[in-house]
Amino acid sequence: MAKLGVNVDHVATLREARKTDYPDPFVAARTAVGLGVSCITVHLREDRRHIREQDVSRIRGIPSCRLNMELAADEDVVAFALKTRPEQVTIVPERREELTTEGGLDVAANPRLFSELAKRFQEKGITVSLFIDPEARQIEAAAKTGAEAVEINTAEYSETKTERDSLAALARVERAAKKARSLGLVVHAGHGLNYKNVGPVAAIEILEELNIGHSIVSQSVYDGFEEAVRTMMRLIESAGKKKG
Ligand code: PXP
Repeated sequence: MAKLGVNVDHVATLREARKTDYPDPFVAARTAVGLGVSCITVHLREDRRHIREQDVSRIRGIPSCRLNMELAADEDVVAFALKTRPEQVTIVPERREELTTEGGLDVAANPRLFSELAKRFQEKGITVSLFIDPEARQIEAAAKTGAEAVEINTAEYSETKTERDSLAALARVERAAKKARSLGLVVHAGHGLNYKNVGPVAAIEILEELNIGHSIVSQSVYDGFEEAVRTMMRLIESAGKKKG
């Protein structure tokens, strides 16, 4: 059954909007860990638009926090991650002008780059996950890099406007998850998941972790962060149980 990984980037986005020292992604992460989430995810972007090194280091120190660091193949950030040693890194593509990660990695076009990167992390005992679109050729390429896991991009599913498109996109995610699993990969999913659309994805039994950020931080404006995390955990759990 899928577990919730909480991405706290947008707590830092709110802080950076005014360059204050609040709200603090560390406090949000500590709260989520206290509620028993599967991991805390932070994306240290090349432009440091939200999360900064200091945030990652402080979150790293939270007892029993499994840290998943999202990062691009940027040498500065890679060096920092190798030094910080999170439990997992999720390698993502990154463009400066994008609002958020747009699309998965093209592993098929750059197999050597990702194999070498994966090896560097694995030598330090860090698990490697590659963020990819639900496409067979990307999954096959990801499996060949030696990475332990993939995160299937759910952006297309999340952005669909009709029931029919949503079901088709969901089927692509499920097919991709099954393929990845059959190649021995641990399978995660994420991007754009929210309180309305998470259920069908959480019901895909193969998925081990759903990484969710923006919708939880947004919901916390109404309900408080603790309640927003709890509600998402409940939704994921009940979708998993229904299926089982
Ligand atoms: N997974 C990956 C690889 C991402 O880049 C992001 C966005 O930072 C997420 C999951 C979380 O997406 P969202 O903020 O839309 O929940």
